[in-house]
Amino acid sequence: MKDFLAISDYSSDEIQDLLDLAVALKKEYFEKGNAPIFKGKVLGMIFQKPSLRTRVSFDMAMRHGGGDALYLSPNEIGLGKRESIADVARVLSGYVQGLMARVFDHEHVLELAKWSEIPVINGLSDYNHPCQGMADALTIIEKFGKNSKGLNVSYVGDANNVTVSLMHVSALLGWNVTVGSPEGYDMNPKAVEIAQEIAKKTGSKLTFIRDPHEAVKGAHVIYTDTWTSMGQEEESAKREKVFPPYQVNAKLVGEADKDVIVMHCLPAHRGQELTDDVADGAHSVIFPQAHNRLHAQKAILARVFGVG
Ligand code: CP
Ligand code: NVA
Repeated sequence: MKDFLAISDYSSDEIQDLLDLAVALKKEYFEKGNAPIFKGKVLGMIFQKPSLRTRVSFDMAMRHGGGDALYLSPNEIGLGKRESIADVARVLSGYVQGLMARVFDHEHVLELAKWSEIPVINGLSDYNHPCQGMADALTIIEKFGKNSKGLNVSYVGDANNVTVSLMHVSALLGWNVTVGSPEGYDMNPKAVEIAQEIAKKTGSKLTFIRDPHEAVKGAHVIYTDTWTSMGQEEESAKREKVFPPYQVNAKLVGEADKDVIVMHCLPAHRGQELTDDVADGAHSVIFPQAHNRLHAQKAILARVFGVG
């Protein structure tokens, strides 16, 4: 594994192996602290957009493993503006041992990986959010167990970058995916094609519908995300008119399986896509889910660095 750019670049066995490693590293961390597997390594973290979880969890993952991380803000790097992506990649390859990049355009993280001599991890693009997807799968497995084929994962709201990674990891693990989204806010068709190919092998069932109530019937997981992703801010007034029927509230949660868990990658816009009572209620796993970013990313870092 040189880079980690998309979950769908890997097989079901490889993703399961990453999750097993995440479970082991999490256990080790809480029992005695992690072994210094990242000693002598520094992760350069390129951010074109804001972040709380991605920034802090990658930094702490490196520190827990005896390594270090360097935050590079949008103003400092000017990726593709002040300097070409190819040049940034080749310069940084001589300074740090790995890169994590949060970009607007997915092509830019692919370009970084193409020119880097060091591993590149995708920390969110307009297409996907694979590190989030791994933390999501870890959270679902913790709740429902490792052998949970046939689990029903329902996403309601804007079918976005987070949905793509959730769909791909779910399909690889044999979970059924239902996406309920309004017209004009559908899944990326290429991502759907990839998921369909995976589903042929794993038996996962994929459903794309409009009705949020239909979408959560029988759901073991209800997942939602912001109605307006970073970079879409000028559309937010329009989106706020379209998405209210897709709000995850107590009524919608009541229509799912009685043991349903409610997930959100955060940051949440409470009162919009998720109500306070649900976010802080008995079904919610949003904070353990956020904390699992740390553990899932340690596994990703270990695999791309080829350590541990
Ligand atoms: N979920 C997530 O990626 O959060 P940040 O944008 O705060 O990193
Ligand atoms: N879909 C959101 C996720 C934030 C973590 C965005 O891209 O802004």
